[in-house]
Amino acid sequence: MGEMKDADAMGEVGNPTCGDMSYIYIKVEGDKIKNISFQTFGCAAAIATSSMVTEMAKGKTLEEAMEITRNDVAEALDGLPPIKMHCSNLAADGLHDAIKKFREKNKS
Ligand code: FES
Repeated sequence: MGEMKDADAMGEVGNPTCGDMSYIYIKVEGDKIKNISFQTFGCAAAIATSSMVTEMAKGKTLEEAMEITRNDVAEALDGLPPIKMHCSNLAADGLHDAIKKFREKNKS
């Protein structure tokens, strides 16, 4: 958890349902996520899913990390109550946004 000062890219996503925010920072080496961290300003479910997505994505290739879905994150936490499913959007979407920004920045 926390800001990554030397991140290669930062994903940023807001939850339209509640107005909460999440930032996902990635450090990439080759095509793998070498380091990842998050700052989430939201509910406990949003923080838990953000934390889980960092565990799931670390060491994966960018391609593999792009395939992590909101449902994968929720399932890794043994599910979320239906009313909290929208909270898992922050984690997966934030990760995907970080990867997209990294790719945009580094395309040749
Ligand atoms: Fe806002 Fe959960 S209530 S992310």
